[in-house]
Amino acid sequence: MMNVSWYPGHMTKAKRMMQEDIKIIDLVIELLDARIPISSRNPDIDELARGKSRLVILNKSDLSDPGENERWIRYFTDKGIVTVLIDSKRSKGFSQISRSIEEACKAKIERDKKRGIIGRPVRAMVVGIPNVGKSTFINSLCRRASTKTGNKPGVTKGKQWIRLNKNVELLDTPGILWPKFESEQTGLHLAIIGSINDEILDETELSIKFIEWLTNSHPGALHKRYDINEDEETYVILQDIARKRGCIKKGNEPDHEKAAKIVLDDFRSGQLGNITLEIPS
Ligand code: G4P
Repeated sequence: MMNVSWYPGHMTKAKRMMQEDIKIIDLVIELLDARIPISSRNPDIDELARGKSRLVILNKSDLSDPGENERWIRYFTDKGIVTVLIDSKRSKGFSQISRSIEEACKAKIERDKKRGIIGRPVRAMVVGIPNVGKSTFINSLCRRASTKTGNKPGVTKGKQWIRLNKNVELLDTPGILWPKFESEQTGLHLAIIGSINDEILDETELSIKFIEWLTNSHPGALHKRYDINEDEETYVILQDIARKRGCIKKGNEPDHEKAAKIVLDDFRSGQLGNITLEIPS
């Protein structure tokens, strides 16, 4: 299942575009999924954003565990990275962003001052893997932003800048990064949150792995949602969920494929509770 080679042609193009855009950027805003802050991170970003100010944003905090969110913020902060927790869909946490951008760019602003450059706005760019919420985030920021400015000299034609305030301008096109399947677990986590196309995966196998993990780490969550006995074998649990949800095939057999879809959809939409798949080491 995890032998997915996921590096489509458009990613090569996206990387090239980003390498070009990043040259004129001061601040790289790295958007991560708060449920999988490590697996939704692309390690190449360190190379791509070398010498730039950095800000990490943990998105989809409405779906992740509030206690783990705090631990993840501490994890990144301990590494010296300014980190903000947000929910882009509902524009929550956005009031912190301007202040955090300033904090992340403190050293750069000081350097500018020493060179006599005062009041030049910070140019920022959002980057992240597909589905992490880049467009939703930029649209939410756009709604709050003061103005949109047009083309600028030295910038690829057609690029738009969003003026967030007098100190910050954001490129309205995000940089797309590709996930790195560095371990089976990374692939598994990306699949569970729905970042990999379900058509190329065996959803039954995926949901079985997820159920196995969930019954160990969050006992009671499946019982609460589906009223099933969690002490059974994982495959039996899936069959029980199928029966409870009326997913029955010909011959009165439980339709485990349908049940697998239900479990994954329920996790992805937060119906199983606020769950973080990865905990900081
Ligand atoms: P991308 O540009 O990085 O590829 O991601 P995009 O903004 O398209 O967002 C991917 C999906 O994630 C969208 O759902 C979007 O609504 C959802 N999303 C983005 N930010 C958040 C968040 O903070 N919380 C939650 N719960 N969801 C978020 P979709 O299913 O593709 O569309 P729809 O459900 O909005 O119609």
